Amino acid sequence: MKKIIIAIDGYSSCGKSSFAKAIAAKLGYIFIDTGAMYRGVTLWAIRHGMVDGPRVDEARLAEALPAIDISFAYNEERKAGDLILCGENVEAQIRTIEVSDAVSRVSAIPAVRARMVAMQQAMGRDKGVVMDGRDIGTTVFPDAELKIFMTASVDVRAERRYKELAAKGENVTLEEVRRNVMERDRIDETRTESPLRRADDALLLDNSSMTVDEQMDWVDTILRGILE
Ligand code: DC
Repeated sequence: MKKIIIAIDGYSSCGKSSFAKAIAAKLGYIFIDTGAMYRGVTLWAIRHGMVDGPRVDEARLAEALPAIDISFAYNEERKAGDLILCGENVEAQIRTIEVSDAVSRVSAIPAVRARMVAMQQAMGRDKGVVMDGRDIGTTVFPDAELKIFMTASVDVRAERRYKELAAKGENVTLEEVRRNVMERDRIDETRTESPLRRADDALLLDNSSMTVDEQMDWVDTILRGILE
Protein backbone atom coordinates (compact mmCIF):
# COMPACT_ATOMS: atom_id res chain seq x y z
CA MET A 1 0.00 0.00 0.00
CA LYS A 2 1.32 3.47 -0.77
CA LYS A 3 2.62 5.54 2.13
CA ILE A 4 1.38 9.04 2.69
CA ILE A 5 1.85 11.98 5.04
CA ILE A 6 -1.07 12.85 7.28
CA ALA A 7 -1.00 16.38 8.70
CA ILE A 8 -3.22 17.13 11.69
CA ASP A 9 -3.42 20.73 12.81
CA GLY A 10 -5.74 22.62 15.07
CA TYR A 11 -6.38 24.36 18.34
CA SER A 12 -4.75 23.35 21.58
CA SER A 13 -6.30 20.53 23.60
CA CYS A 14 -8.72 19.30 21.00
CA GLY A 15 -7.39 15.77 21.03
CA LYS A 16 -5.04 16.05 18.04
CA SER A 17 -2.38 13.82 19.55
CA SER A 18 -4.76 11.06 20.62
CA PHE A 19 -6.39 11.10 17.20
CA ALA A 20 -3.04 11.18 15.37
CA LYS A 21 -1.73 8.33 17.52
CA ALA A 22 -4.80 6.20 16.82
CA ILE A 23 -4.48 6.77 13.06
CA ALA A 24 -0.76 5.93 13.18
CA ALA A 25 -1.46 2.71 15.10
CA LYS A 26 -4.13 1.71 12.59
CA LEU A 27 -1.87 2.26 9.59
CA GLY A 28 1.42 1.16 11.17
CA TYR A 29 2.74 4.70 10.68
CA ILE A 30 5.04 6.77 12.88
CA PHE A 31 3.29 9.34 15.06
CA ILE A 32 5.10 12.64 15.65
CA ASP A 33 3.83 15.13 18.22
CA THR A 34 5.47 18.37 17.10
CA GLY A 35 4.04 20.28 20.07
CA ALA A 36 6.30 18.13 22.27
CA MET A 37 9.33 19.44 20.35
CA TYR A 38 8.37 23.09 21.02
CA ARG A 39 7.67 22.16 24.64
CA GLY A 40 11.16 20.62 24.87
CA VAL A 41 12.81 23.82 23.66
CA THR A 42 10.67 25.76 26.13
CA LEU A 43 11.71 23.55 29.05
CA TRP A 44 15.34 24.05 28.07
CA ALA A 45 14.84 27.84 27.93
CA ILE A 46 13.15 27.85 31.36
CA ARG A 47 15.93 25.76 32.88
CA HIS A 48 18.56 28.12 31.47
CA GLY A 49 16.87 31.23 32.83
CA MET A 50 15.75 32.54 29.45
CA VAL A 51 12.08 32.84 30.36
CA ASP A 52 10.99 35.61 32.70
CA GLY A 53 7.21 35.84 32.95
CA PRO A 54 5.96 36.79 29.50
CA ARG A 55 9.51 37.68 28.33
CA VAL A 56 11.72 35.21 26.49
CA ASP A 57 15.36 36.04 25.75
CA GLU A 58 14.98 35.50 22.03
CA ALA A 59 18.56 36.36 21.02
CA ARG A 60 20.20 34.06 23.58
CA LEU A 61 17.81 31.23 22.81
CA ALA A 62 18.38 31.53 19.06
CA GLU A 63 22.13 31.38 19.64
CA ALA A 64 21.81 28.32 21.88
CA LEU A 65 19.58 26.36 19.48
CA PRO A 66 22.32 24.16 17.96
CA ALA A 67 23.08 22.84 21.47
CA ILE A 68 19.46 21.89 22.19
CA ASP A 69 19.26 18.27 21.20
CA ILE A 70 15.71 17.03 20.66
CA SER A 71 14.67 13.50 19.75
CA PHE A 72 12.04 10.88 20.52
CA ALA A 73 12.36 7.45 22.15
CA TYR A 74 9.50 5.03 21.60
CA ASN A 75 7.60 4.23 24.78
CA GLU A 76 5.91 0.84 24.46
CA GLU A 77 3.40 1.62 27.20
CA ARG A 78 2.20 4.92 25.69
CA LYS A 79 2.57 3.66 22.13
CA ALA A 80 4.24 6.97 21.29
CA GLY A 81 7.61 8.66 21.44
CA ASP A 82 8.76 10.22 24.69
CA LEU A 83 10.56 13.51 24.24
CA ILE A 84 14.30 13.31 24.87
CA LEU A 85 16.01 16.61 25.63
CA CYS A 86 19.82 16.46 25.55
CA GLY A 87 19.73 12.79 26.55
CA GLU A 88 17.10 13.16 29.32
CA ASN A 89 13.57 11.80 29.08
CA VAL A 90 11.43 14.88 29.83
CA GLU A 91 8.04 13.60 28.66
CA ALA A 92 6.47 14.39 32.05
CA GLN A 93 8.24 17.71 32.61
CA ILE A 94 7.13 19.21 29.27
CA ARG A 95 3.43 18.78 30.15
CA THR A 96 3.38 21.06 33.23
CA ILE A 97 1.38 24.29 33.28
CA GLU A 98 4.69 26.22 33.61
CA VAL A 99 5.81 24.95 30.22
CA SER A 100 2.30 25.36 28.74
CA ASP A 101 2.28 29.01 29.84
CA ALA A 102 5.55 29.80 28.03
CA VAL A 103 5.46 27.52 24.99
CA SER A 104 3.43 29.72 22.66
CA ARG A 105 5.91 32.58 23.14
CA VAL A 106 8.91 30.34 22.55
CA SER A 107 7.31 28.78 19.49
CA ALA A 108 6.63 32.22 17.99
CA ILE A 109 10.41 32.81 17.64
CA PRO A 110 11.37 32.46 13.95
CA ALA A 111 14.74 30.76 14.63
CA VAL A 112 13.05 28.17 16.83
CA ARG A 113 10.44 27.46 14.16
CA ALA A 114 13.03 27.19 11.39
CA ARG A 115 14.96 24.56 13.33
CA MET A 116 11.89 22.53 14.34
CA VAL A 117 10.39 22.64 10.84
CA ALA A 118 13.66 21.37 9.30
CA MET A 119 13.76 18.49 11.81
CA GLN A 120 10.11 17.63 11.16
CA GLN A 121 10.62 17.63 7.39
CA ALA A 122 13.55 15.23 7.83
CA MET A 123 11.39 12.94 10.02
CA GLY A 124 8.73 12.74 7.31
CA ARG A 125 11.10 12.25 4.38
CA ASP A 126 10.15 8.58 3.93
CA LYS A 127 6.43 9.27 4.45
CA GLY A 128 4.31 6.89 6.54
CA VAL A 129 3.95 9.52 9.27
CA VAL A 130 1.10 11.15 11.10
CA MET A 131 2.26 14.51 12.39
CA ASP A 132 0.22 16.77 14.61
CA GLY A 133 0.81 20.44 15.32
CA ARG A 134 -0.24 23.90 14.20
CA ASP A 135 1.51 24.41 10.87
CA ILE A 136 2.00 20.91 9.48
CA GLY A 137 -0.44 21.27 6.57
CA THR A 138 0.54 24.87 5.84
CA THR A 139 4.33 25.00 6.33
CA VAL A 140 5.96 21.68 7.21
CA PHE A 141 4.20 19.51 4.60
CA PRO A 142 2.10 21.74 2.34
CA ASP A 143 1.86 18.76 -0.07
CA ALA A 144 0.63 16.25 2.53
CA GLU A 145 -1.80 13.80 0.97
CA LEU A 146 -4.27 14.19 3.85
CA LYS A 147 -4.72 17.31 5.95
CA ILE A 148 -7.13 17.54 8.85
CA PHE A 149 -7.87 20.69 10.83
CA MET A 150 -9.32 19.95 14.25
CA THR A 151 -11.34 22.16 16.49
CA ALA A 152 -13.71 21.95 19.47
CA SER A 153 -15.37 24.52 21.71
CA VAL A 154 -13.15 26.26 24.31
CA ASP A 155 -15.22 24.81 27.16
CA VAL A 156 -14.86 21.26 25.91
CA ARG A 157 -11.11 21.69 25.35
CA ALA A 158 -10.47 23.28 28.75
CA GLU A 159 -12.43 20.52 30.47
CA ARG A 160 -10.47 17.79 28.66
CA ARG A 161 -7.08 19.33 29.47
CA TYR A 162 -8.11 19.99 33.07
CA LYS A 163 -9.06 16.33 33.57
CA GLU A 164 -5.74 15.22 32.05
CA LEU A 165 -3.73 17.51 34.35
CA ALA A 166 -5.81 16.65 37.42
CA ALA A 167 -5.29 12.94 36.75
CA LYS A 168 -1.53 13.60 36.79
CA GLY A 169 -1.87 15.34 40.14
CA GLU A 170 -1.21 18.87 38.81
CA ASN A 171 -2.60 21.51 41.12
CA VAL A 172 -4.55 23.75 38.71
CA THR A 173 -8.09 25.06 38.49
CA LEU A 174 -10.40 24.67 35.50
CA GLU A 175 -10.38 28.46 35.11
CA GLU A 176 -6.54 28.56 34.91
CA VAL A 177 -6.58 25.87 32.25
CA ARG A 178 -9.33 27.67 30.33
CA ARG A 179 -7.30 30.92 30.37
CA ASN A 180 -4.18 29.06 29.21
CA VAL A 181 -6.06 27.41 26.33
CA MET A 182 -7.53 30.74 25.18
CA GLU A 183 -4.25 32.61 25.51
CA ARG A 184 -2.38 29.94 23.54
CA ASP A 185 -5.02 30.08 20.79
CA ARG A 186 -4.61 33.85 20.63
CA ILE A 187 -0.80 33.74 20.39
CA ASP A 188 -0.79 30.78 17.96
CA GLU A 189 -3.28 32.50 15.63
CA THR A 190 -1.73 35.96 15.65
CA ARG A 191 2.02 35.25 15.44
CA THR A 192 3.68 36.44 12.24
CA GLU A 193 5.67 33.26 11.59
CA SER A 194 3.45 30.33 10.46
CA PRO A 195 0.32 31.28 12.42
CA LEU A 196 -2.24 28.62 13.19
CA ARG A 197 -4.60 28.56 10.23
CA ARG A 198 -6.58 25.98 8.36
CA ALA A 199 -4.90 25.08 5.05
CA ASP A 200 -7.30 25.65 2.15
CA ASP A 201 -7.32 21.93 1.38
CA ALA A 202 -7.62 20.70 4.99
CA LEU A 203 -10.73 18.80 6.05
CA LEU A 204 -12.44 20.33 9.08
CA LEU A 205 -13.17 18.10 12.07
CA ASP A 206 -15.09 19.65 14.97
CA ASN A 207 -15.05 16.97 17.64
CA SER A 208 -16.88 18.92 20.40
CA SER A 209 -19.51 16.23 20.64
CA MET A 210 -17.81 13.27 18.95
CA THR A 211 -16.42 10.16 20.62
CA VAL A 212 -13.01 8.79 19.63
CA ASP A 213 -14.77 5.92 17.82
CA GLU A 214 -16.88 8.35 15.82
CA GLN A 215 -13.75 10.27 14.82
CA MET A 216 -12.09 7.03 13.73
CA ASP A 217 -15.13 6.09 11.61
CA TRP A 218 -14.99 9.51 9.99
CA VAL A 219 -11.32 9.19 9.09
CA ASP A 220 -11.62 5.54 8.00
CA THR A 221 -13.91 6.48 5.15
CA ILE A 222 -11.54 9.22 4.04
CA LEU A 223 -8.47 6.96 4.27
CA ARG A 224 -10.14 4.28 2.19
CA GLY A 225 -10.69 6.84 -0.54
CA ILE A 226 -7.03 7.86 -0.52
CA LEU A 227 -5.22 4.57 0.08
CA GLU A 228 -7.26 2.07 -1.94
O1 DC B 1 0.15 20.61 20.77
P1 DC B 1 0.66 21.27 22.04
O2 DC B 1 -0.41 21.97 22.81
O3 DC B 1 1.47 20.35 22.89
O4 DC B 1 1.67 22.40 21.51
C1 DC B 1 2.36 23.22 22.39
C2 DC B 1 2.60 24.59 21.77
O5 DC B 1 3.54 24.50 20.72
C3 DC B 1 1.38 25.29 21.21
O6 DC B 1 0.88 26.25 22.12
C4 DC B 1 1.85 25.96 19.96
C5 DC B 1 3.18 25.34 19.65
N1 DC B 1 3.22 24.57 18.41
C6 DC B 1 3.50 25.24 17.25
O7 DC B 1 3.66 26.47 17.28
N2 DC B 1 3.65 24.56 16.09
C7 DC B 1 3.47 23.23 16.05
N3 DC B 1 3.62 22.58 14.89
C8 DC B 1 3.15 22.53 17.23
C9 DC B 1 3.00 23.24 18.40
